Amino acid sequence: MKIQIINGPNLNLLGVREKQIYGSTSFIEYYEEIKQDYKNIEFDYFQSNSEGEIIDKLHNVGFEYNGIILNAAAYTHTSLAIADAIAGIKTPVIEVHISNIFAREKIRHSSLIAANCIGSISGFGLNSYKLAAHYFSTNPK
Ligand code: DQA
Repeated sequence: MKIQIINGPNLNLLGVREKQIYGSTSFIEYYEEIKQDYKNIEFDYFQSNSEGEIIDKLHNVGFEYNGIILNAAAYTHTSLAIADAIAGIKTPVIEVHISNIFAREKIRHSSLIAANCIGSISGFGLNSYKLAAHYFSTNPK
């Protein structure tokens, strides 16, 4: 089973950026853990600060991979283009957030992409990604 993880803008700074919200673990450290925990899954990881690159990645993997775990970061709240890309591909997408977006500023309460995803996981720290991996691993397509 092939799962693509996509991280959006500023998530390259995990472990450094706003640690009180996002924690002190870098995504690269966490990525090693998730690969150990789900040996049945072949993961690929992509991070970009650019909306267009995220859309290109969704198009490139979205007809071939079994699942996509997407943290679109701030684009979650603004990007109709990413929402359209998710609607246009075949691979199911799970939206994830490290923080609980509903417990934060009002502007973060809405997600333009949620309706086009199979589900959303928000507020479990980096474990939000493992919860999404668990879903794909137990619901193979
Ligand atoms: C985030 C929440 C977003 O509101 C924010 O812009 C991020 C990270 C999260 O993982 O909690 O960059 O997606």
